Amino acid sequence: MEEYKAAGVEAYGAIVDVTKEEEVKKFVADVKEKFGPITILFNNAGIIKRIPMIEMTKAQWDQVISVDLTGPFLCSKAVLPQMIERKAGKIINACSMMSELGRETVSAYAAAKGGLKMLTKNICSEYGQYNIQCNAIGPGYIATPQTAPLRKKQPDGSMHPFDRFIRSKTPAQRWGETDDLKGLAVFLASPASDFINGQVVYIDGGILAYIGQDPSQLDESKFRDEGTSEDVVVNDK
Ligand SMILES: NC(=O)c1ccc[n+]([C@@H]2O[C@H](COP(=O)([O-])OP(=O)(O)OC[C@H]3O[C@@H](n4cnc5c(N)ncnc54)[C@H](O)[C@@H]3O)[C@@H](O)[C@H]2O)c1
Repeated sequence: MEEYKAAGVEAYGAIVDVTKEEEVKKFVADVKEKFGPITILFNNAGIIKRIPMIEMTKAQWDQVISVDLTGPFLCSKAVLPQMIERKAGKIINACSMMSELGRETVSAYAAAKGGLKMLTKNICSEYGQYNIQCNAIGPGYIATPQTAPLRKKQPDGSMHPFDRFIRSKTPAQRWGETDDLKGLAVFLASPASDFINGQVVYIDGGILAYIGQDPSQLDESKFRDEGTSEDVVVNDK
């Protein structure tokens, strides 16, 4: 909050659990009282639990679905009446590549983010008639302090295997930066996107469009023997 104030931005914050409807409603009412009707909602809160599905308890599943899917439902539900009244509003959801793809250990997260993609389309469908746009941003792998250990060199000087994996899957052969996310967020919050609705835009350096390279990381002993080709394929990109 101090950072915003130092930059001359009038800001207000509170600790709110997005899974608790009463807390969300109270916060939305407080904001309206202080600043007037809310015009832009960014549903950012999210958690992930990396647990193999057959080991995941129902309580762990429920927690991820509550924060990542029920949270955006409750926040949008609380804010939408103000937007309907004003006949204007922008809702931006934090989706993920896991809105499209599955991966080991992230069943609840993928189910929630896939659901959030459809909630995005449904808010668009139901409330687009009131000049309300609901779109989503789907970040790929972003270089943050949290992911920094995954880019550290190994003791023998080689690349971290996950770093190699991500670069091999990304046409740009780099991780995303937080700066890569800003432009789309501003665009989706601005009148420039007034006729864009129900879309998920992925900021992933092209991962979702690319089959990837460097199969040398794969355990070939697990693959079915398809015989030997007469042709020597050097690079099939
Ligand atoms: N970091 C990435 O690479 C990445 C990639 C794809 C999608 N996302 C999504 O972007 C969003 C932000 O991710 P991030 O990396 O900044 O994560 P982060 O962990 O830094 O931030 C998530 C925030 O959500 C808050 N939160 C968690 N549970 C909450 C609850 N019940 N009520 C209110 N707030 C709660 C946390 O306090 C935290 O401030 C998330 O929805 C995440 O799933 C992130």
